[in-house]
Amino acid sequence: MHELILIGNCGNASDVISLVEALKSRAEYWQILGYLDDSGPQRGCLRHLPWLGTLSDATRWQGCRFVMAIGSERTYLIREELFCTTGLTLPDLATLVHPLAQVSNHAHISDGVVIQYGCFIGDNVRIGIGVYTSPLSHIGHDSSIGSWSVIAPGAIICGHVEIGSHVYVGAGSRIRPGIKIGPRALIGMGAVVTKDVPPGAVVAGNPARIIRYVESHSSNIALTPICLHK
Ligand SMILES: CC(C)(COP(=O)(O)OP(=O)(O)OC[C@H]1O[C@@H](n2cnc3c(N)ncnc32)[C@H](O)[C@@H]1OP(=O)(O)O)[C@@H](O)C(=O)NCCC(=O)NCCS
Repeated sequence: MHELILIGNCGNASDVISLVEALKSRAEYWQILGYLDDSGPQRGCLRHLPWLGTLSDATRWQGCRFVMAIGSERTYLIREELFCTTGLTLPDLATLVHPLAQVSNHAHISDGVVIQYGCFIGDNVRIGIGVYTSPLSHIGHDSSIGSWSVIAPGAIICGHVEIGSHVYVGAGSRIRPGIKIGPRALIGMGAVVTKDVPPGAVVAGNPARIIRYVESHSSNIALTPICLHK
């Protein structure tokens, strides 16, 4: 039995609880001790689990593993930044794959990745560190998903698509084969992406068009060796 702590207490965290329940069918046992969240115990979806402190309290929980469950369209840009505030390193993150996900033996899944119920991960797919793939998303063969990106439920990413780091792919969106999505982009719910998307662009509609650009304050997020490997 491994001990697990959720980082964040909203929708993704609820879904991780379901994933952990499902893993029992594979004799993989995790005990969820509670969650860390900077807003304290009063807000969020997980009122039945104890609040264990703020993100900066993470290192007090020696020997536990953690899952990065923060990742809405409002927070996706700062997932790595928030992880760094915990003082944890990558090996502290659990990599969780739902037993009812279909993952190719030839896919590369990095540390700290969550693959939810019903996801399909095709041949030669590369998934970067800390990526969260929501239920029923499809990632076609030879595609790559950059670190800390979030794939919302039901997104369909066709083959040979390249998605940069810190990207949010909205629910039910569809991305045409071979498309490149720049870092920090936000793909709107239900968008049909037929052209490359520049870094930081917010696109929506069918065919998807740029409706704005994300705030620039997080535009220089880089993978920080100090944070990830100390
Ligand atoms: C695309 C998105 C980021 C835009 O959010 P926003 O910048 O706050 O934009 P607004 O809501 O102010 O909408 C701006 C315009 O775009 C339109 N629009 C917003 N989202 C749209 C979408 N997904 N598809 C088509 N048009 C959309 C709005 O109707 C509005 O049009 P108008 O100017 O003619 O009135 C957001 O609507 C979205 O789709 N987020 C992803 C949500 C998601 O997938 N969540 C998963 C949860 S599990």
